[in-house]
Amino acid sequence: MPTVSVLSLKGGVGKTSVTLGLAGAARAAGLPCVVADLDPQGNATTALDPAEVRFTANDVLAADGAVPIGDALTASGWGDTVRLLASEPALERRNHPADGVAARHRLRTALGGLRDVDLVLLDCPPSLAELTSSALAASDVAVVVAEPTAFALTGAQQALAAVDTVRRGHNLRLRPAGIVVNRYRTGSAEHRYRLDELIAVYRDLVLDPVVPERSAVSRAQGACLPIQRWPSPGAREVGRIFAGYLELLLTAARSDAGPFAKGAAR
Ligand SMILES: Nc1ncnc2c1ncn2[C@@H]1O[C@H](COP(=O)(O)OP(=O)(O)OP(=O)(O)O)[C@@H](O)[C@H]1O
Ligand SMILES: [Mg+2]
Repeated sequence: MPTVSVLSLKGGVGKTSVTLGLAGAARAAGLPCVVADLDPQGNATTALDPAEVRFTANDVLAADGAVPIGDALTASGWGDTVRLLASEPALERRNHPADGVAARHRLRTALGGLRDVDLVLLDCPPSLAELTSSALAASDVAVVVAEPTAFALTGAQQALAAVDTVRRGHNLRLRPAGIVVNRYRTGSAEHRYRLDELIAVYRDLVLDPVVPERSAVSRAQGACLPIQRWPSPGAREVGRIFAGYLELLLTAARSDAGPFAKGAAR
């Protein structure tokens, strides 16, 4: 059961869009997957459009572990194969747990109770506080998301440093699986420059191809549909990219090798 964290320190760069793109790719491939929305903003929860939410990640991560993950999972509006561990604003309290490091392994223990799942996707909040650390402690691989802007390199460095810290402190099997460069505009010299900068430093980690900026991404999210089901050329293009990423991630999560090189040649 490969478990993938999607993270970045910076807000709004596309963590939730990447999580949803991968969930849509898993759905299209017929792979049962669970999306855990670990962001108190609950954007993935909204986009996955569950009919009913009785419990959330906030309940599952409570110190007494009163709610088993099996009881908290809910069907998403995307069909039977995509299930959701929903978020709620009160989840923010799990970012600052009273019992400190003891809280870090709670998510990993909870996810250990999952059965019949081929992929677990953890949508992290835009911070490196406890929820992101807990996600990393529970993951096989981490995907860092960046936009091709002036702060991309620093942001990637900070996120990868956090991955390394959790790997050494709590989870030796964790590896960075790649940097997704999102909202890339082909005609922008600035975007090209920032992408080259990232490639110069993290050559093997920058996933190829990048995700282009396409209005279909936010439109599909607004309609609570997977990008793979949105009827436009832009959506098909982005859908194909996430299918490729999914394949790479599944391979990376199952392999014992170090950080994997991207599949497509650059
Ligand atoms: N490739 C893309 N093309 C066009 N719009 C995009 C793309 N990726 C993301 N967006 C839009 O950008 C906005 C921010 O994306 P998203 O919510 O995925 O970022 P995030 O990193 O999860 O944000 P937060 O840090 O608040 O959780 C959303 O409105 C989303 O629809
Ligand atoms: Mg988000």
